[in-house]
Amino acid sequence: MRIRRPIVAGNWKLNGSRAVCRSLVAAVGDGLSAQGLGPPVLAAADSRVEVLVCPPFVYLSELAGLVAGHQLKLGAQDVAVEDAGAFTGEVSAPMLRDVGCQYVIVGHSERRALFGDTDERVAGKVIAAVRAGLAPILCVGETLAERDSGQTLAVVRRQLAAVFSALESASLAPAAWRELAVAYEPVWAIGTGRTATPEQAQEVHADIRATAARRDATMSGALRILYGGSVKASNARDLFAMRDIDGGLIGGASLQAAEFVSICKAAAG
Ligand code: PGA
Repeated sequence: MRIRRPIVAGNWKLNGSRAVCRSLVAAVGDGLSAQGLGPPVLAAADSRVEVLVCPPFVYLSELAGLVAGHQLKLGAQDVAVEDAGAFTGEVSAPMLRDVGCQYVIVGHSERRALFGDTDERVAGKVIAAVRAGLAPILCVGETLAERDSGQTLAVVRRQLAAVFSALESASLAPAAWRELAVAYEPVWAIGTGRTATPEQAQEVHADIRATAARRDATMSGALRILYGGSVKASNARDLFAMRDIDGGLIGGASLQAAEFVSICKAAAG
């Protein structure tokens, strides 16, 4: 029996159309039901796995009902630091709540590398999410150069510290700990087909939990730490068998319903 309920989150990135997104949600929902993980199972407070999909912003609103009908949860891929105002192009946390999101991915390495998300900005986004009642999935992870130069744990600790300190200064800790999930996503494993071995991932996950424990020992035991980076049906089971791996953040494989459902099944154990 797992102490923490695993999460499997599909990060659809910049993919889909209205029709594609609708049929993907339906196929995932039906596929989960066929595997005995349908609505009654997923809806239970102690369900074996929590499954969420994170479509592009423009489709969130229209998918909310369909997603809820399958007892899946809805997440966004990013969020603004600010709640409202003159911030052209942004989408705020209260807006995401308003359209039915429960989760939001924050600090994905693509946002950090391509769109200027610094540790401080990421912390601001986590705070905005928590204040609006959204559960943030905070992404952390090192580049290949950082891994090769032995910096992995230092980089991940720095990324975590920025968020933990900001939550403490905003007096949102320890309550916010209950909402937060962390996704360890080594940048070199994202979309590359190159996955961290279960042992490599476990080493970092254990360090994330230890880093969290230095802030709050109670929180760290309950903190869900997902692995992301080329997770597929064929490697999910071995990754999820590791002690500190509590599910996955799935990119490419989340766009194929059957593959994604198999990953959810692996997490449900
Ligand atoms: P991937 O992406 O599964 O395609 O490697 C994971 C992610 O970027 O969240």
